[in-house]
Amino acid sequence: MTKQLAGNLYDHPRYYDLVFGSDWNAEFQFLLACFQRYAGCEVRRVFEPACGTGRLLYRLAKAGFESSGLDLNPRAVDYCNRRLKKHGLPVSAFVGDMTDFRLRRKVDASFNMINSFRHLTDGALAEAHLRCVARALRRGGLYVLGLHLLPTSGTPINGESWSARRGNLSVTTNLWIVHRDAQKRLEHYRMTYSIYTPTETYRLTDEFHFRTYTARQFDQLLARVPEFEVAATHDFAYEIDRSTKIRSDTEDVVYVLRKR
Ligand SMILES: C[S@@+](CC[C@H](N)C(=O)[O-])C[C@H]1O[C@@H](n2cnc3c(N)ncnc32)[C@H](O)[C@@H]1O
Repeated sequence: MTKQLAGNLYDHPRYYDLVFGSDWNAEFQFLLACFQRYAGCEVRRVFEPACGTGRLLYRLAKAGFESSGLDLNPRAVDYCNRRLKKHGLPVSAFVGDMTDFRLRRKVDASFNMINSFRHLTDGALAEAHLRCVARALRRGGLYVLGLHLLPTSGTPINGESWSARRGNLSVTTNLWIVHRDAQKRLEHYRMTYSIYTPTETYRLTDEFHFRTYTARQFDQLLARVPEFEVAATHDFAYEIDRSTKIRSDTEDVVYVLRKR
């Protein structure tokens, strides 16, 4: 019999990390390459707003970067810190809001790779977030920000699914759009996790909203935060030697923002 799990999709970091944590290497290599190619300073200290389980933060800490992060979800933060501790790395994630934070020491780079930024469903919050990140960065420091734009031509992708297995545990995730309101700039998503162990099957269903950005709307937001310039744009193929030009049908973009 399938048992329902309570909570939202970020309340179960073990399952989140199994599905999304296995796919870290391309993003990790890309981040290293961005630090080399685009930063106007040497990158030694990095920070991840909305770090979740710290799937990337942990890899960077392991590679010798002084790494820290924040997340709204205490369970994700706890998972992240326990993993850091287990590997003898500084416990450096804390509970916080990416729209309202201040770091004690400036960092050389910040990153937010897979749409977490779009959880900020209101323009003022998005702007507040960019200002917080800008304030946290040294001059020449980078903010590597990945998100899906709403294309103005062609049909947008309306769902995705992922699965992963570790030992006897296997997780399948489906994400699909319920409704898109381009006027209000909101997308309503539903997501399920199906979790299989040798003896039990669990199901988790969650709903959330993402703010939509056309390329133009994202540029308009950036124009309100002049602390940043766009150093480059790439896509979710994470190929450092292939920057992309944003077109009307572009969806996945990694903006490499540099603090002026
Ligand atoms: C898609 S996960 C990404 C986690 C991690 N960055 C990664 O790449 O795996 C989105 C995360 O954003 C966090 N989040 C959403 N709104 C937030 C906010 N206002 N401040 C901090 N974290 C937030 C959620 O708790 C969740 O852990």
